[in-house]
Formats: sequence, structure tokens, C-alpha cells
Amino acid sequence: MISLTLPQWYDLHAHFRQDELLAPMVEQHRRMGCAGALGMPNTKPPLARVFAKDEDATAWSVERYLDLFRKAWPAALDLIVPLYLTAATTPAMIEAGAKSGLLRACKYYPPGGTTNSEHGAAFRGYVENGVLAAMEAHGIVLCIHGEAHGVQGDAYFGRASNAEEDFYRNQMPALVEKFPRLKIVCEHVTTKVAADFVRHSGPNVAATVTPQHLLYSIAHFLQGCKYHLYCMPIVKFDEDVAALRRAVTAADNTQFFAGTDSAPHTVKATPCGCAAGCYTGGVAPQLYAEAFEKAGIAMDSAEGQGAFKKFLCLNGPAFYGLTVPQETFTLSKAPQEIGLVATPAGTVTPLPIGMQAQPTDKATLSWSVTPC
Ligand code: DOR
Ligand code: ZN
Repeated sequence: MISLTLPQWYDLHAHFRQDELLAPMVEQHRRMGCAGALGMPNTKPPLARVFAKDEDATAWSVERYLDLFRKAWPAALDLIVPLYLTAATTPAMIEAGAKSGLLRACKYYPPGGTTNSEHGAAFRGYVENGVLAAMEAHGIVLCIHGEAHGVQGDAYFGRASNAEEDFYRNQMPALVEKFPRLKIVCEHVTTKVAADFVRHSGPNVAATVTPQHLLYSIAHFLQGCKYHLYCMPIVKFDEDVAALRRAVTAADNTQFFAGTDSAPHTVKATPCGCAAGCYTGGVAPQLYAEAFEKAGIAMDSAEGQGAFKKFLCLNGPAFYGLTVPQETFTLSKAPQEIGLVATPAGTVTPLPIGMQAQPTDKATLSWSVTPC
């Protein structure tokens, strides 16, 4: 049986939410070998202030959420909480946050582009008001949800282009040219265009890739209307999946790393649409291993295991300057049965259960994680 002993890893893009969801979501992450995580700031209200003293009814702070997050995950080796960029973000907030040590990253959301993203402002504004310059000066990482906002029809998702390709073709080149030392993580990239952009950028530009974007294409979503696979940015085409697989499995990969975008929703489908987000807490290393196999990687070879370890465990910490954990976990090619995740806030459906042909509350993964 193939078995990998790996350092515990950091999920460098995940949604843990708040209130009664936070602790159970942390527990699922802990059980899949995570030593820590970057917890996204699209809470309600959003984490749009750095310090608790600056909060108001419309905005919580990074300081408050870090405190809640640490209480829910006392054994975590490191936890990062980005500031949600809004029209109210100022260069002075960035500077003070950086100096305090609380602020390590900021998140750009395209206004209205995804779950709780309506507080975001147009990208240009952060270029013009000095926020990105302050981030560059103070070594704060910019986490980008790279999709053009406000676009409709074919410009959103068409044969020739889509919102992500538009962003990487028309906004990113000018950004990296203007701020050459800004550290940027292109979050949850889904297209060959975005993957190529990252590969051809310098070492200050990196990307997270989710399990769903490595495993599935738009056909998987459409056939049977698999709404548990509905996430932003939406899964793309086979050639995009192939490009992402090549990027994450390359022997010399240093820029692509694990960030699941695991996003719990207790209600996915509604009469007027569907909540965006795939939940992969508890199952992500197993799904990433499956994707590496689908990419043709021999997971019993030293090269294959080396590439997997870089993607899951090493590249992300190197980019963010995190300690690689001494503690390990085991990932084996042996079936693992999983179930729904019950929480006091409602039930969350892990993606592999949502992808099955018949309604059921269980799924069997081809890889298993030995619980830590
Ligand atoms: O599908 C998504 N869901 N994409 C995001 O960017 C946010 C996330 C969520 O918070 O549910
Ligand atoms: Zn996300």
C-alpha cells in the first residue's frame, strides 16, 4: 500500500466562518493534518478593520477574529487572517497593522463576485489611494480573487474568454509592473491563462489551487447539475484542468501551493440560485492525491511524492515565511469512508458526497488520512 508520511500542512486559503460554525470547521481541518491555516475575512460583518478598537456595526477586526480563531484552534502552529480590502481601507491602516504584527495579508474581493464580497471596491481604487503601495512597502501579502467584476454574459463565461481570463490578461500585468516587489497570491486559479501568468511572473507571485479545480471541469458541474461543485471562480474546461495539473505537479514547482477554498454552506441550493463554495474540510489531502494520480503522477515514486510534498507542505510556508511543522500525518492509498458534517449551525456536505449520482450521506475516498 502506498503511504506517505508528510509534515503537517497549512491550508493557505479556507473559510471557517464564525459563531457556531467556527469550531467544527477547525476540527475538520485539524483532522486532515493541518497545523494551521489562512482563514478568509468574508465573515458577517467582514473583517475590514485591523484593530478591535476601530470596529463598528459594519466591520469586525482582524484582531477580534484572530482571537476567536486561536481559541477555536489552540494547538495551531500559525494562523493568518487577511484584512478585507474595502473603500475604507487606508495606507495608514496598512502601516499600523504591519507594525503591530497583526496584519500579514489583505484580501481583494471583486465587488459582488462571490459569497459576502459586496463590501469590496474596484481594484483601481487601491492602486490610486496608496493601499497597494503601503502593502508593498510593508511586506503585506495581497491575496487576489482574480475575476473581472460587473461583467455579464459571454464576458463572464464565454467561449473566447471569461471573468478570470479578463482579469489576468487586462489587470494583472499592469499591477505587477507597478508594484514589482508586492507579494501576490493569485487565489484559486482556474484557467490556463492564470496559471501561465503566474509561471511567467517572478517569485513574489504565487497561486493557490483547490482540489475541485484540479479534479473537475464544467462538464462535471453541468451533467446532473452538481450544485455542491458550484463555487467561484466556476470550474472551467479540460485544457484548463490539464494546465493546473501540470503546474502543481511540476518537479520544479515553487509557486503553486495548497489552498482549498473550503467554504462551508449549510444551505447550498435555494429557489433563486445557489450559494457559491465547495466544502473540502476533512478531505483535501485525499482529493489532492487523487488529482496528482489523475495528472499521471506515480504516487509510489520518490519524484511523485516529492512534487506532492512541495505542493501540499512546503511551497506555501516558504512563500508566507511559516515554519514547516515537525509533526507529521499519514496519507495512504486505502479507502476512507466519510459522512456529512453536523454542526450546531446546520449540516455541511463535503464535496465528494455532493458529487455522487444518487442522494446519499456517505462517500468513499480512494485515499485516507490517519487522524492526527
Ligand atoms: O465559491 C466561493 N465561496 N468562492 C469564494 O470566493 C468565497 C467562498 C465562500 O466564502 O463561500
Ligand atoms: Zn475563498
